[in-house]
Amino acid sequence: MRIAIDGPAGAGKSTVAKILAKKLGFTYLDTGAMYRAVTVLFLENNLSLADENGIKRLLENADIKIIPGDEGQKILLNERDVTDLIRTPQVSELVAKVSALPEVREYLTELQRKIIAKGNVVADGRDIGTVVMPEAEVKIFLTASAEERARRRHRELLARGYEVSYEEVFREVLKRDELDTTREISPLRKAEDAILVDTTGLKIEEVVAKLLEIIGRKQDVL
Ligand code: DC
Repeated sequence: MRIAIDGPAGAGKSTVAKILAKKLGFTYLDTGAMYRAVTVLFLENNLSLADENGIKRLLENADIKIIPGDEGQKILLNERDVTDLIRTPQVSELVAKVSALPEVREYLTELQRKIIAKGNVVADGRDIGTVVMPEAEVKIFLTASAEERARRRHRELLARGYEVSYEEVFREVLKRDELDTTREISPLRKAEDAILVDTTGLKIEEVVAKLLEIIGRKQDVL
């Protein structure tokens, strides 16, 4: 069974997808982490977003691995652990632009499909139900109000020691929503057959219960 979870930043996708994958014994695929890893490469190589040849060369030589583990997945970039590095504000700021590049999307979509082909998977991102695995048995579009998503991100950043204001985070959420939904290739949108779940005001356990119910209903008819 393939489960696709799409939605805007801060809707709770990765938290919920991780729990679901564990409960179901499925592989968890965090596609946002892959876009973030490529962004680390751009930053470290001082690569311009307009340098098409440089981008091609960079991707040809890139080796991105997702290693599932008990304490969450690790992400390796050319055999180096970049699990923490991909979450810095510097990466968060640039990733929407990097993920709008056709070369990057093509490269990562192919890589994601290879991982998905191996078996049962819960994958989260922006274009999973629409582009990466349109044939997924379960498609969820997870969302929440912009204010709630900003509050969650803000809490997360403070807990990790970044001193940012709520207003700053709120502005960043809106900016990222705009970039993600208006980009030309694979913009963030709900697949027609995806089930919309609004997580505003819901606890994580409540969202997980809702999704398990949707998955259970689907399993019954398969
Ligand atoms: O979910 P996240 O915040 O880690 O995602 C980081 C960025 O990657 C976000 O700006 C959108 C982009 N992304 C994408 O374009 N397609 C995906 N399938 C996953 C993420």
